[in-house]
Amino acid sequence: MPQDIDRLIKASKKAIAFSSPLYSGFRVGAALLSGDGRLFTGCNIENASLTLSVCAERVALLKALSEGATDLKAIAIACATEEPCYPCGSCRQMLFEYAPGIKILLPSRRSITVLGLKELLPMPFIKEAP
Ligand code: THU
Repeated sequence: MPQDIDRLIKASKKAIAFSSPLYSGFRVGAALLSGDGRLFTGCNIENASLTLSVCAERVALLKALSEGATDLKAIAIACATEEPCYPCGSCRQMLFEYAPGIKILLPSRRSITVLGLKELLPMPFIKEAP
């Protein structure tokens, strides 16, 4: 719904302010909408042991999952750059596993790009049951 899209994009932009880009200087915000209408925000949080840094999308996703949210509908990802900020490979894989049908909204200065995981992760890793 248009008002959900607006709400998500505003929340993702607001979340940029809480990011902690201590090493890269690159700020990202995310906002995720679950089936029951709840909104979960996230931002990138970096750490001196660089590999422990976490992306904005995964912070939002883990907040949602850890609070029992299901049927994840859409996630907006916002950066302070001119162009849309595409999710990294690890976030695509995590989203695929927990929310394969999620809509990914990428606002930029001029427009909003809407993509699905079919386009962003055409050949995901899928673990066959042993
Ligand atoms: N980052 C995200 O938060 N999301 C992405 O999908 C790509 C990268 C963060 C990780 C790191 O803190 C900073 O952007 C620069 O790579």
